[in-house]
Amino acid sequence: MEAEHMGADLQDILFTEEQIQERLAELAQQVWADYEGVHDKLLLVGVLKGAVLVMADFMRALPGSAPIDFLAVSSYGSGTKSSGVVRILKDLDADITGRHVLIVEDIIDSGLTLSWIKTNLLSRGPASVEICTLLRKPESLKVEIDVRYVGFDIPSAFVVGYGLDFDEQYRNLRVIGTLATHVYS
Ligand code: PRP
Repeated sequence: MEAEHMGADLQDILFTEEQIQERLAELAQQVWADYEGVHDKLLLVGVLKGAVLVMADFMRALPGSAPIDFLAVSSYGSGTKSSGVVRILKDLDADITGRHVLIVEDIIDSGLTLSWIKTNLLSRGPASVEICTLLRKPESLKVEIDVRYVGFDIPSAFVVGYGLDFDEQYRNLRVIGTLATHVYS
């Protein structure tokens, strides 16, 4: 779906496809260099559903092979805010004992979801758990969370596209943009 297909529902384009790909390629190079010597123990963990597109492009930008797994969680919350109460809907297939887990996310907003996921994964005996997120909203953070890889810091507007939804819509938008207020107000 192209930006023009959203019509007036899209306010501004924040990042084009090219900008997203370029940044993910940089992050992939950095990650591969940082995990030198332990590539065989690296496991990429995507958090469904939003991270699907980031995972697809990030993993292909890596200059070597890395297995992937997925986790699905539900944050009980309404509308555009997450509550921090998390429930696992689909757990990992893999045993992460002794492995270097890199969580791949689309966005960190309050940080509550990722904070909970990181604590949960750390309890399973991995060698390490780090986070790579394409987007982060520094002004919205409600908990301190160590995020090793961040694509872009963005303001606290409601964003859609490239996996990010509003009410399950617009995930297939190619760009990342801000949603016009009339859509959710
Ligand atoms: C989004 C995103 C993170 C979470 C971040 O997922 O993918 O998992 O919200 O918000 P937080 O930092 O405030 O906790 P969402 O719950 O919208 O589910 P989705 O990935 O299926 O869109």
